[in-house]
Amino acid sequence: MDKFVIKGGVALHGEIATSGAKNSALPVLAATLLTSEPVSLRRIPRVRDIRTMLKLIENIGARVEVSGDTVRIEAGEIVSPEAPYELVKTMRASSLVLGPLVARAGRARVSLPGGCAIGARPVNLHLSGLEQLGARIHQVHGYIEAEAPGGLRGAPIQFDRITVTGTEDLMMAAVLARGETVLENAAREPEVLDLAELLIQMGAKIEGAGSSTIRIQGVARLGAAAHTIISDRIEAGTFLVAGAMTGGDLTVTNCVPEHLGALIGKMRQAGIGIEQTGTGELRVRGTRALRSVDMTTEEYPGFPTDLQAQYMALMTQAEGIAIVKENIFENRFMHAQELARMGANIRLEGRQAIVAGPRELSGAQVIASDLRASASLVLAALVARGETTIDRVYHIDRGYEKIEEKLAGVGAQIRRA
Ligand code: EPU
Repeated sequence: MDKFVIKGGVALHGEIATSGAKNSALPVLAATLLTSEPVSLRRIPRVRDIRTMLKLIENIGARVEVSGDTVRIEAGEIVSPEAPYELVKTMRASSLVLGPLVARAGRARVSLPGGCAIGARPVNLHLSGLEQLGARIHQVHGYIEAEAPGGLRGAPIQFDRITVTGTEDLMMAAVLARGETVLENAAREPEVLDLAELLIQMGAKIEGAGSSTIRIQGVARLGAAAHTIISDRIEAGTFLVAGAMTGGDLTVTNCVPEHLGALIGKMRQAGIGIEQTGTGELRVRGTRALRSVDMTTEEYPGFPTDLQAQYMALMTQAEGIAIVKENIFENRFMHAQELARMGANIRLEGRQAIVAGPRELSGAQVIASDLRASASLVLAALVARGETTIDRVYHIDRGYEKIEEKLAGVGAQIRRA
């Protein structure tokens, strides 16, 4: 199993580029199952979750051609409308094929995802939404079986709580349903809007994506399209924190600054200089006088849970006490113990982490437990005295494209072993 070996203490300087967003690419790839015509997608990040999704849609019957970061998919026929356990267990986002399969093929069999390192992560809202669109759902042998032989019909759906992939799954189901669907309390993440833009290009009738009410008029069929995925705001945010923490001067390119408002706000409050230097470019400069600032994760446009672990690493270097509250997932503090092993002072109280700083961190052997937790360990290692070894970096490979090459390019002493 791969490890990262990182020598800390080097300030990062230069330019670092953002890749396409994993969490946009995943639903967009699932959406290609809605049409028999070819869909061409650019800026698909080369990360492990994407390879898993490509395998999944190939299994279902699509023809997949990859060339660099462009992927061309033609799902001429749905051969097997199924997502097996072997794939779902490594990537929960596999449940994103549920909506497209029921909509296009009238049936789907998708393994139920189990719990994961960050919480229980049920899919009840995806299922009740599909039932409201007329699907019959059974759970047998660990699988969800959904059927709508006569096709889905539009309906008003009010989400009990905001769910990102739930909104995406139901939007994809509703585009081929008869009549109108209105999704209320929908997720407003930029990735939902990106998916809607692809679907609209394919011929779907969608209004309001990016707001909490999405209106969809079903159409009989969808067709070919070409689309470029948005930038990964979580990767860009991770780089901004890396530049600030190491006291460097880093320009993050190919990003969308408007998608990073909550993080930039908190970093500025903490005393960090961040400015937009060009289109899609943010320059960050570290400060010696980093101040602690409390933070609570929320749905977009609030502070993203996917940057909570990285923010916690940053706060270990700030003067004072920061209360970091996790509102989205019930168990997303696995990194706290590992950061503590490196010398951080973090106390957990239910959904809150109380971080007291600044603390000098020292290199240690640590274990990556999930994707974003691993990113926070990389950040901590970049400022720690001595050498850190991070085990199980396959977690980080799920969602960060060549992170060690990108960081090494701006001066970090990081290698894969
Ligand atoms: N929830 C339910 N029932 C459902 C669905 C969700 O109770 O049917 C709960 C979840 O347990 C959670 C909350 O609602 O407590 C929000 O979960 P959401 O459904 O929004 O999360 P998700 O769609 O499964 C996506 C991202 C995650 C990101 C979350 C929150 C993708 C592929 N995944 O997950 O990304 O953390 O939204 O923003 O888009 C990551 O990239 O590291 C990652 C975990």
